[in-house]
Amino acid sequence: MRKDISRRTFLASTAASLGALSSLPHEMSRHGPSGTPSSSPLGAPRRPYGDRSPYEKSARYFKPSSTPGTGASRTPLQDLHGIITPSALHFERHHAGVPQIDPRHHELMIHGLVERPLIFTMKDILRLPPVSHIHFLECAGNTASDQLGQPGSDPQMSHGLLSCSEWTGVSLKTLLDQVGPRPKASWLIAEGSDASRLSRSLPLAKALDDVIVAYGQNGEALRPEQGYPLRLIVPGWEGNVNIKWLGRIDLVDQPYMTRDEAAFYTDLVPNGKARMFTFVMEAKSVITRPAGGQHLDGPGFYEIEGMAWSGRGSITRVEVSTDEGKTWRDAELSSLVLPKAVARFRLPWRWDGSELSLQSRCTDDTGYVQPTRDELVSVRGLNGTDHYNGIKAWYVHRDGKVSHV
Ligand code: CO
Repeated sequence: MRKDISRRTFLASTAASLGALSSLPHEMSRHGPSGTPSSSPLGAPRRPYGDRSPYEKSARYFKPSSTPGTGASRTPLQDLHGIITPSALHFERHHAGVPQIDPRHHELMIHGLVERPLIFTMKDILRLPPVSHIHFLECAGNTASDQLGQPGSDPQMSHGLLSCSEWTGVSLKTLLDQVGPRPKASWLIAEGSDASRLSRSLPLAKALDDVIVAYGQNGEALRPEQGYPLRLIVPGWEGNVNIKWLGRIDLVDQPYMTRDEAAFYTDLVPNGKARMFTFVMEAKSVITRPAGGQHLDGPGFYEIEGMAWSGRGSITRVEVSTDEGKTWRDAELSSLVLPKAVARFRLPWRWDGSELSLQSRCTDDTGYVQPTRDELVSVRGLNGTDHYNGIKAWYVHRDGKVSHV
């Protein structure tokens, strides 16, 4: 009879193959695992809608707004597992608070340069063939503080206006096929039903490509903060055009220079001109562990982990540098890798106790390589702070502290 490999032997051989492990799991006692046993023989009762363990405290971060109803909250990227952001931790950006909309009374009107203007109730929309896709959403202004040379102190503060969900809804093309765009129609204006009536112009070509009119997020209805009961998902494009609480789509023959594409969401460049309708969020990556705000327990083995995404397509490569960008090593893509979605990367690493920086650089399937901050700032300057996607560095100090400076 073959004797099972003992845990001690297994750990010893693993440790030998990995080099010195910084912290081994504890040896098992003779009496089995030593967790905290429940004091009562019976656990908690069932409940109709689940909540996480009271020991889990990860939360969105936001400052109180000076203007009521406006502001953003950030996703704790450093705490997430896998590629999906829990709906309750999805980043937020509001312009007039979160409206409470009764889906029985919500309607989507599609009109303008169409053959048959139509009003869809939620019931109408739910009867149409559904699609589900995993896509990231990112605010155009995510990582602006890194561009300005005031980098966020941890992944949440530097890159937290990014989340990734499975979105379910009806393809916008399905709805547009029903109204029949007229030949002159080349753009549309999408408008939200919140008090700010946030509206953006979108090219019809994108609308007919991969845009989703979504009612589902991660297996259930959208959260109110994410546009309940209906929102646009415009894969790979800046968060602001993914209109929440969607109530109206007007087909037109040109962009309409709405407030959020004239006064805001334009990118001022050094010659005094502004880039407009900069929709695509370009390839970006961030190491989430070890990262700012974390601590290494002495020299030894660590797993470098992070996230990469591109609004142009799929991530094909992530490289990591631990020597100020002098040399780069390929990380492993360790998750599902989907177009216009967050991908995970990992690289085993042995810290020798010296001061160094940790950086990641991603490439997407168009061949686009994430640039350095210097490269970006030399072209775009520091006036426009949207669409910054420079390489991010975290700094490891001798005492094991990891920080943003
Ligand atoms: Co833009």
